[in-house]
Amino acid sequence: MAATVQQISLSSPFADQKPGTSGLRKSSKQFETPHYLESFIESSLRVLPGVAGGTLVVGGDGRYGNRRAIGVIARMAAAHGVARLITTTGGILSTPAASHLIRQNGAIGGVILSASHNPGGPEGDFGVKINGANGGPTPESITDAIFAVTQTLDGYRILEGTPELALDQPGSQQLGAMTVEVVDGVEAYVALMQKLFDFDAIGDLLRGDFPIAFDAMHAVTGPYATRILEGLLGAPAGTVRNGTPLEDFGGGHPDPNLTYAHELAELLLGSDAYRFGAACDGDGDRNMILGQRCFVNPSDSLAVLTANATLAPGYADGLAGVARSMPTSAAADVVAKDLGLPCYETPTGWKFFGNLLDAGRITLCGEESFGTGSNHIREKDGLWAVLFWLNILARRREPVAQIMAEHWNRFGRHYYSRHDYEAIASEAAHGLYKRVKEMQPALVGQAFAGRTIATADDFAYTDPVDGSLTSGQGLRLLLDDGSRVVLRLSGTGTQGATLRVYLESYVPPSGNLAQDPQAALGDLINAIDALAEIKARTGMDRPTVIT
Ligand code: G1P
Ligand code: ZN
Repeated sequence: MAATVQQISLSSPFADQKPGTSGLRKSSKQFETPHYLESFIESSLRVLPGVAGGTLVVGGDGRYGNRRAIGVIARMAAAHGVARLITTTGGILSTPAASHLIRQNGAIGGVILSASHNPGGPEGDFGVKINGANGGPTPESITDAIFAVTQTLDGYRILEGTPELALDQPGSQQLGAMTVEVVDGVEAYVALMQKLFDFDAIGDLLRGDFPIAFDAMHAVTGPYATRILEGLLGAPAGTVRNGTPLEDFGGGHPDPNLTYAHELAELLLGSDAYRFGAACDGDGDRNMILGQRCFVNPSDSLAVLTANATLAPGYADGLAGVARSMPTSAAADVVAKDLGLPCYETPTGWKFFGNLLDAGRITLCGEESFGTGSNHIREKDGLWAVLFWLNILARRREPVAQIMAEHWNRFGRHYYSRHDYEAIASEAAHGLYKRVKEMQPALVGQAFAGRTIATADDFAYTDPVDGSLTSGQGLRLLLDDGSRVVLRLSGTGTQGATLRVYLESYVPPSGNLAQDPQAALGDLINAIDALAEIKARTGMDRPTVIT
């Protein structure tokens, strides 16, 4: 049968499912219902500028549904007049590598197939993220427009009668009038890392007495880490653990934190076998950094990278500025102030950094949720952060724990923790949140954990580049001694609601810098539970995840 464009009629499967800030993320089962994926792709292709005649990048983290989705997207892209579609061998493409491919090829954007750190497989989650020409998540104006189209959609266009895409080898093939280029998804990314970091110095470190462990969590970074760490940098075979991407991530939850990457955490924190450890999430944009008997919290990691940036060749000329999301601790702010750099506090989500990066106002940015990145792409980048740390370690030749101790001695320490209450009943979560929001005006001046509440608000942000206002970003209680507690409802969970409680307390260099964070934050933890009635209202006596 010759390839022909078919017009399929339907009534929109998107009753009222507004895509979240990170695109559309739902159960694999939902994505398998007829026309579901197609309807979202149709809406996206109608909205993205430059589709006809443009170049589109497509790939994903290898989870269940990845290959099928690439086939569908390719046939729909062809039907919409895309001239060139770039995908990768096996369809494996990390989010940061996708961002780079979009930028490098002057693409109109990309479709990234991932539900990030959510479990995969037939019983897990699937997701579609639409990125724009700058390589980053599309701005709200585009996601809103896509949503509007989904509401009235009555059909989609797809090319039928084509052979299955050959994804096993790099090469070129035709799909109707569209050229499909299958490229090695690792190569261009590796070349970019080689420009930013001192591979000779890191190689010297790793070939010496410096055993490291990297956990790819059976997700997308396996092939990238193996080629870079074991291939180019000479780390021994076996350095990369769980390095083969699996459709269900081996049944795991590919989220690099102390709960879900606990095997790696135990190796580093409970033994002296390794000097450095790291893990990345499902789609490769998050990172967790560990030293020998030392956990580096992501807020501190951003601060250390900022303070030591000039040790890496790609940042040797210094930084334009730094940004962190509101819930991230102010550790980077203190360093930025010391270095005389502008520092921005943005809402949660990478797209807010994208505007600042595009405008050249910042070079580094990060979130407390294990996301760190720079102006090299427009997504957070897990392996980039790992290589940045290795570059610093290669130059400083000190243990991670000593680098942290010296950092706190110089800048003071932000004790920090995030407590997540996952999969709680939606009404309970929203009820708790609404109650605290309503209480806020009366809280100012009240005692809280032995301090006084100086400000109580719902965080709002005016973008300094385009002037847009984003409100309702999290309930903040700012205390008179600079400590704070923030409550937020997750925008990425797929089961019930997730309440996040962020706790932060600053101790200057002269104070006690060697406490356990949970102990140092104990009074704030108790006080927010009493105020927000967290245990009573969620029915949980402890958080699901403590970071
Ligand atoms: C979470 C993180 C946030 C990150 C997002 C996408 O969102 O907290 O920092 O940008 O995932 O990776 P949340 O579930 O808190 O809305
Ligand atoms: Zn991710």
